[in-house]
Amino acid sequence: MKKIEEMVKILEFPDLGDERGNLVVVEGEGFGAPFDIKRVFYIYGSDSTVVRGQHANRKTEFVLINVAGSSKVKVNNGQETVIYELNRPRMGLYLPTMLWKDMYDFSSDSVLLVLASEHYDGTEYIRDYEEYKKEVLKLKDE
Ligand code: TYD
Repeated sequence: MKKIEEMVKILEFPDLGDERGNLVVVEGEGFGAPFDIKRVFYIYGSDSTVVRGQHANRKTEFVLINVAGSSKVKVNNGQETVIYELNRPRMGLYLPTMLWKDMYDFSSDSVLLVLASEHYDGTEYIRDYEEYKKEVLKLKDE
């Protein structure tokens, strides 16, 4: 099985800003996000006591960007765990399918922007960690 650090990508977006301020552009299909962006959502008003996510996705890939403030993402592949801190508006975290993720430690000004490769479909979410482990370890054996 691949290590998490080989599966996840830390993306750096160029700043097209000038004296008027910063401008960061993320496009789909390889120009920023390595997929065609079908859905965008953002999370704010969470605080340092909240844990979000706690699921894996069978079909959806994501890019996470803290466009303001900071948060942490704990990524697990059924075998190991790696923690990433999102704290810069030009940094993106690419997460492929079938990774278990927790988002937590949100700063009070955190705005976490999420780009997704699929429309929302609750049936492709795995929300039970034991079920996730069973599925991901089965994939490993195939
Ligand atoms: P949830 O998956 O718990 O959010 P998070 O991963 O940030 O912890 O989603 C909360 C609710 O919102 C849940 O009822 C599903 C719904 N939802 C949508 O309808 N569309 C979406 O794109 C997302 C992310 C969630």
